[in-house]
Amino acid sequence: MSTRPQSGSSALTVLDFPKRKASQTSISMLTCYDFTFARLLNSTEVDVLLVGDSVAMVVHGHPSTLHADVDMMALHTAAVRRGAPDKFIVADMPFLSVRRGLEFAMNSVAALMRAGANAIKIEGADGQLDLMRHIVQSGIPVMGHLGLTPQSVEAFGGHKVQGRTEGAAAEVFAAAKAVEGTGAFALVLECAPAVLAERVTRELLIPTIGIGAGSTTDGQVLVLHDMLGCSPAFKPKFLRHYAQSHELVCDAVTRFHGDVLGRTYPSQSESYT
Ligand code: KIV
Repeated sequence: MSTRPQSGSSALTVLDFPKRKASQTSISMLTCYDFTFARLLNSTEVDVLLVGDSVAMVVHGHPSTLHADVDMMALHTAAVRRGAPDKFIVADMPFLSVRRGLEFAMNSVAALMRAGANAIKIEGADGQLDLMRHIVQSGIPVMGHLGLTPQSVEAFGGHKVQGRTEGAAAEVFAAAKAVEGTGAFALVLECAPAVLAERVTRELLIPTIGIGAGSTTDGQVLVLHDMLGCSPAFKPKFLRHYAQSHELVCDAVTRFHGDVLGRTYPSQSESYT
């Protein structure tokens, strides 16, 4: 059996997260779902790759993350690990996987960890704190996820900012403290008012990683395809397009199509003798 560590030597470990918070060195996280992008991201300095259950929407075209299951998450986690041996990889526990009893939850955790994850991410807090504690005590790093938790999209009546009223903000804050209390090593805060995210970040000892939660969180996460501008029409307030991939890809394909129709591709130098 190989004794080689699963991650390369340049990978962050779970022990680096509190250090990053203490030194106020922000944490960057991007979603990643496949081998090719994983290999690409492995050559960058981005800190963490998240095999998010958004894979169900971004890669598989489903309308929500409810369509991700453990097999889907494990398949994509394994592909990302093959492409990114040097990165800290977090895999999402998919829809209802922590609500179907201990055995189902632990089998799901095992599948994701064996696929190559360094940690798992769990949405929500209410009714699952004991389970989260059990997973942590089983030696598995757990990242929490509060605010807009997309697996509860139907209960929220859509993808809406959470914690806007005083009562709702107090609930998110209490949940954040409870998640920290389970031994979670970090917390994603999605689509929450900046003042709430600032308070949670200030009061928690573990780092917060925001998406649509303002600038004061201890890190930021974005969906890779969104920040690359693959769907230019999708532009929520928090999203910054770092590339115009839609134009880039369409332009390349249009030129290829033109070259094929014009018989200028392949040239002689692109042909075998
Ligand atoms: O699945 C996902 O992409 C996520 C991020 C939005 C944090 O959970």
